[in-house]
Amino acid sequence: MKSFDIAEELKVNYKFLIGSILPRPIAVVSTRNLDGSFNLAPFSFFTAVSATPMIIGFSPLIRTSTGKKKDTVINIEREKEFVVNFVTESNMTLVNEASAELAYGEDEFKFTGLGALDSEIVKAPRLQESPIHFECKLRDILSYGDHVGSGRFITGEVLKVHVDEKIIEDGRINTSLFAPVGRGAGNDWIKSTDIVQFERKMKAQIQK
Ligand SMILES: Cc1cc2nc3c(=O)[nH]c(=O)nc-3n(C[C@H](O)[C@H](O)[C@H](O)COP(=O)(O)O)c2cc1C
Repeated sequence: MKSFDIAEELKVNYKFLIGSILPRPIAVVSTRNLDGSFNLAPFSFFTAVSATPMIIGFSPLIRTSTGKKKDTVINIEREKEFVVNFVTESNMTLVNEASAELAYGEDEFKFTGLGALDSEIVKAPRLQESPIHFECKLRDILSYGDHVGSGRFITGEVLKVHVDEKIIEDGRINTSLFAPVGRGAGNDWIKSTDIVQFERKMKAQIQK
């Protein structure tokens, strides 16, 4: 086995993170720009944080090309709200397009042709092509610095969940019907097409 010291160099650390922590779920985060247009971007540094209250978190890094915060962060700092949308086999190509580095204020919905639906509580829109939407209110921004590659862990409290009836079976979201896609190492994306099942070993089963 080879062992590595943690490097100063962003590229080296980044490779270990994206090569080890996978498959990573992808949050497609929609926010509102200053002029009222919309912003959309995928983030695979993304996880569930708490069930009650219902909290999710994701981490945009300081942009390598400019050394500046990403548009999503600028918008969330100002508006204090956002929507988390999800990647499926049917929207993944366009979601990848939405990761393009556009100038602040350029709308990724218009750029990609993806659809924006009004949210019920927040001003940020929902992604029409996503079968699940989480309307979120900002809870915390934990900053790990201002260098290129430094993360900001943004947590949001989910205020409202929307789920397409087509992916619900027996009152639950069905993985195969949802067909979520995650991120792998490098340019890999991972489909959920090979699913196995295990009996749960915990005494109290939240899902029962
Ligand atoms: C599948 C996927 C996952 C990504 N995950 C992240 C991430 O976790 N953190 C990050 O800073 N950038 C991530 N990116 C890159 C951002 O989407 C990209 O920098 C985007 O331009 C940010 O947009 P914004 O400036 O509109 O916020 C990812 C890109 C793709 C395609």
